[in-house]
Amino acid sequence: MSSTFLNLIKTRRTHYGLSKVSTVPDAKLRSIVEEAVKYTPSPFNMQAGRAIVVTGNRSDSLWEKIVKPGHLKTLGEDEASIKVYTQKISEYAAGYGTILFFEDQAIVNAMSAKIVAFASEFPVWSENATGMLQSNVWTALALEGMGASLQHYTAYSPEVSANVLKEFDLPTTWKCTAMMPFGVPTGEPGNPSRPKTFIPVEERVKVFFE
Ligand SMILES: Cc1cc2nc3c(=O)[nH]c(=O)nc-3n(C[C@H](O)[C@H](O)[C@H](O)COP(=O)(O)O)c2cc1C
Repeated sequence: MSSTFLNLIKTRRTHYGLSKVSTVPDAKLRSIVEEAVKYTPSPFNMQAGRAIVVTGNRSDSLWEKIVKPGHLKTLGEDEASIKVYTQKISEYAAGYGTILFFEDQAIVNAMSAKIVAFASEFPVWSENATGMLQSNVWTALALEGMGASLQHYTAYSPEVSANVLKEFDLPTTWKCTAMMPFGVPTGEPGNPSRPKTFIPVEERVKVFFE
């Protein structure tokens, strides 16, 4: 049983080249994200994880009209970076859609206030939980034949962050933790100039069987 699961998680990779094609109907996309949000664990079952699924023109304009102008402003006069990020962000816009992940800070803060002994841990655990959710959604999409990548442009720019909330009329307590552009991949995963390698796993896992 577990080997089946482990083989399935190997199918998840980073795909930058995306097309405007989805392998699944929108209703299925919605249920993938709903199921992942519902069943991914959270600290003290606080359920602060939130997600938005956006497709078509809404996804394009999220990247082209919110992320791109906001991010380019953070680059100043650095022409080389402007060129690189203009290209990168257009690649994300070329996908079928985007899933945005959030953690509701109203819940995180309420938990910190309620369980004072762990007050400083809740923000950390919240980040752990959103990572678990992202991984579950990413893997589920991969199993449907869809490529995706994980992006963090809201972290670099308060303007992008604020405009994302405004675009979808979201509470200001929702902190965006990642954006995942997705679609049927147009090519191989990863960055061809940096093939994925693995550190020997023995250096990373120690066992003490008795
Ligand atoms: C927490 C986390 C943050 C990441 N942030 C980014 C990112 O901002 N931009 C990006 O292109 N990839 C990002 N990645 C993707 C990693 O670079 C990628 O997963 C890693 O190189 C392994 O490649 P793989 O996804 O093909 O297995 C992130 C991955 C994780 C787990």
